[in-house]
Amino acid sequence: MNHYQPEVLISSEEIELRITDLAKAISKDYEDKELVFLCVLKGAFIFCSDLMKKVSLPVSVEFISLSSYGDGMKSSGQITTDMDITGNVAGKDVLIVEDIVDSGLTINFLKSKLREKGAESIKVASLLHKPGKQKFATDIDYLAFEIEDKFVIGYGLDYAGRYREIPYIGVLNAGQ
Ligand code: IMP
Repeated sequence: MNHYQPEVLISSEEIELRITDLAKAISKDYEDKELVFLCVLKGAFIFCSDLMKKVSLPVSVEFISLSSYGDGMKSSGQITTDMDITGNVAGKDVLIVEDIVDSGLTINFLKSKLREKGAESIKVASLLHKPGKQKFATDIDYLAFEIEDKFVIGYGLDYAGRYREIPYIGVLNAGQ
């Protein structure tokens, strides 16, 4: 089976440089604090892992698995929690680590969940943002790249469960 190599939108080198910048900003802003990374599965696992390795703070990690896309290229508008946070986030400083903010629905959903669970502070780090698609107001505190409204894959992002292993961010061709 041939391995699909989509058109490069953002190279591995560019991703690494931006992650270094974000990690520096996070380390400075949370100096003398302990931070909980909330890794939003499945898409953010590679970004979260690379970001964690570059942050010079004591960090712990929690996971939540959400789905809103099914197997398509459009959000269903309904978020399903496939696996909830298992640790205690009450009184903790939490950084939501997302792969991409599109409509903003997922981030709003996560922020209210974390508030309910009693998090002390909540901020957002996202690898990508599609500002053209945003419907729900939400601030992204640490953003690596803004992109146009194209469906992207690679570096953790999938289409119908595939292509997460591609080491850069590519654009999915309609025919694929
Ligand atoms: P939102 O709730 O509309 O902001 O959507 C966020 C979620 O949609 C992300 O965490 C991704 O799982 C998914 N998503 C949005 N755009 C893309 C894309 O271009 N490629 C892959 N997944 C995407």
